[in-house]
Formats: sequence, structure tokens, C-alpha cells
Amino acid sequence: MDEPLTIEGGCPLRGKVRISGAKNASLVIMAASVMIQGETVLENVPRIRDVEVMCGILQSVGVKVAWQEDNSLSITVPDDIGIETPYELAKKLRASNLLLGSLLARKGQARVCLPGGCNIGSRPMDLHMKGLSALGADVKLEHGFVEARAGDNLFGNRIYLDFPSVGATENIMMFAALTPGQTYIENAAKEPEIVDLANFLNAAGARIRGAGTDLIRIEGVKELTGVRYTVIPDRIEAGTFMAAAVATRGDVLVENVIPTHLYSIMAKLQETGAVIEQVDGGIRVVGPEEVKPVDVKTLPYPGFPTDMQSQMVSVLATAKGTSMVVENVFENRFQMVDEIKRMGAKVKVEGHTAIVEGVPALCGARVKATDLRAGAALAIAGLVAQGITEIENAYYIYRGYENFKDKLANLGARVW
Ligand code: EPZ
Repeated sequence: MDEPLTIEGGCPLRGKVRISGAKNASLVIMAASVMIQGETVLENVPRIRDVEVMCGILQSVGVKVAWQEDNSLSITVPDDIGIETPYELAKKLRASNLLLGSLLARKGQARVCLPGGCNIGSRPMDLHMKGLSALGADVKLEHGFVEARAGDNLFGNRIYLDFPSVGATENIMMFAALTPGQTYIENAAKEPEIVDLANFLNAAGARIRGAGTDLIRIEGVKELTGVRYTVIPDRIEAGTFMAAAVATRGDVLVENVIPTHLYSIMAKLQETGAVIEQVDGGIRVVGPEEVKPVDVKTLPYPGFPTDMQSQMVSVLATAKGTSMVVENVFENRFQMVDEIKRMGAKVKVEGHTAIVEGVPALCGARVKATDLRAGAALAIAGLVAQGITEIENAYYIYRGYENFKDKLANLGARVW
């Protein structure tokens, strides 16, 4: 178990931070790589716990995975690979369920462990299963595993997603890429990570159009060949450091970002009174003297991302007024509220809404991370608070943030 992450608050962040590759693009593209014959090399992959676990899962089905220079990952898929994700590893990483679509596409069958509900919600897979079944696969839930068999009468189809689920869109897209015929995914998720997956698959020979819109058309092809592909930057890591700059009333340049992925985050942070400008090479965030209260609603992309909700609560905890934060994507994602209240924040949760009444100052305390974004949010609160904050279960943060401590320290934070 890692030592608690300890932060002495009170100093505004200043300087530059280079954003790493996107966790949620890396994980799904690593899962997709099992569909490809031969070697794939992924660049700009963050060296974070979740990626290491995914490496382990790929190796457990027989795939050769090796880090090349710092952030490049070489993945070689032999002819014969396994079809089941091991419980021990899969239970650590919900994204292991993304091997359902790719193993089914490559091997004609897959058995992935149903990821346990983590702290933010039950995380069902009904939309994944419905989508794969619509393409002719036989999919069932048994003994805590999702079992799927392709059979031999696969066909393209039109699939409507009741909710624009990121994972369901990804699993269906991967399976459809090697399924004969035309498949349409309606009400598809539009996240940049979906576009990155489609670009990766197309570079390997797939025929996917419309990723990034709510109608994605996939024309099945016979096989995919190995490519070298660079993963997009992590918009949530970028947003997290931008929020920290606002909360600490600092002046930070976040580099290696794609501004269009950050519009909703920039807009919301600007409403707090921060000055945010696109400069060449990145985005500069200058925190306001006084943080204005802001109402936030999380929505599927391009709405304000649920993965930035906890970080916004930390920013608004010391605003001059009351803010409403509504979580529309997950049913239970206010876990960090109990922890930030130990630091003096005044937050009331009513159903899907957190009412954040700004206080003049937070004070350091010993708190506990409950998921990686909550952990990052508590780090932001610690940076603002007077005194020392110790964050237990800091390993959650290291699951999704590369060199988190060093990046904060390089911005002048007192962290150890
Ligand atoms: C992805 O999770 C991300 N993870 C999450 O990031 C992110 O919060 C989420 O998308 C929403 O943007 C990865 O990409 C690895 P969903 P995913 O399917 O695919 C319901 C982080 O911090 N749903 O879009 O699991 C579900 O219960 C993580 O990096 C169904 O009801 O999210 C949830 O309420 C946390 N049935 C909502 O949809 C299904 O079959 C959104 O889930 C699937 C989902």
C-alpha cells in the first residue's frame, strides 16, 4: 500500500506542466490491439497503474508486451491467444471489459469477468451485451463473467444505444470492425477517446466513419495489420491541472493538449473568473483573486465530463457563494464530499446534486481517496487548504495520473 500523499497547502501553482497520453484512449487501444496480426507500437502511452494492469491482462492471454523508450509500448499478438481475462487482474480494472469486443472479433469467443461495481456506481454491461447480440453473437452473463460466442452467422446491423455508453460504443465498434456487413451505432458516445480508437483501427485497415458523432458506420473487413500509432493527450489530466491552477489562484501553462477536447472545461473554469487563453503549445490558466460560484451539470461528451466533477467541487469549495453540481452520468459519484467536509467544506448532497456553499478557507486533514478522480480532487483541496493534508489510498491517483507528485512539485506545490 502506498504512503499517503501529503500536501502542505497555501502556495499558488506557477509554471508549466506537460500533459501525458490519455489513459482512457490507451486502455481501449491496447485492448483493440489483440485484433491485429503482428506488431503494433503505441506512442505517448502514460506509465500509470491502470496501463500496467492492462499490460498484465494482455500478457495473460499470450500477447507479448514490451515498453520501448519511455512512453512507447510494443504489442505483438501471436496466432494463438487465450479468450479469457483472469479474474485476479480483471477485477482491478473495469476497462478489462473492453477485451470482450476485441477477443470476440479476433477469436470468435470471449469470456471477460464482469467488473465489480466500483465506488462510483454499479457499472452494468447490458448495453454492451445487447449490441454484440444484435450482430449475431451469443452473449450471456454467467458466474460473474460475460461469455460471448460469435457463431458463424454474423451480420451487420443497426444498434441504438439507450445511453451513449463509452465502453459499449467501443466494444461494439471493435467487434463490428471484423464482422461482415455494415453496422450502424445510433446514439453512440462521442468522446475523443472513441475517435482515437476509430482512427487507430482505420490506420490498421478498418472502415469506420462518423466516430465523434452520434451515428457511427462500420463496414466489416477481413483482417487488420499492425501499425505505429500515437495516443491523444489526456483531457482529464489537463482539466485536473487547470482546476488546480484556478483553485490555488495560480498561473499555469498546460502543454501538449488538444484545445477542442477541453472546451466545456475551459468554459466552466472561465465562469469562476479565471483567465484562460490558448497560446501556442498549450493553454494558460490564471486563477482569479476570488472564485465565483458556478453551476455545473455533467453530461456525455461534449458536455462537462463526469471525470471532472469531483475536481470542480474542490474548486468551488472556496468560492464566494453557492454552486450547484449535478452528476447525470453515474449514480453514486459524490464519495469525495464526505472527505472534503473533513477539511471544512460546506457541501450538501441531495440525490444527484451537490450544493457547495463556498467557505473562506479549507483546513488540512487526513482524508481518503475513494476513486482516482476523487483522489485528484482531494489533492486540489489540499493545495488550497491551510496546513497539511494527508491523502490515504493515494494509489488510486497513481492509477490515472503519470508522475503526479513530480508534476505538482514542479509547479511549486509542497508535496511528498
Ligand atoms: C468510461 O467508463 C471511462 N472509463 C470512465 O472514466 C468515464 O467516467 C465514463 O466512460 C464516462 O465518460 C474508460 O474509458 C476506461 P459508460 P465506461 O459506459 O465506459 C451506464 C476514469 O475516471 N451504463 O459511458 O464504463 C453506466 O452505469 C473513468 O477515467 C449502463 O447502464 O462508462 C454509467 O451510469 C471513471 N449500461 C453510464 O452508463 C451499460 O451497458 C456511463 O457509463 C454501460 C453503461
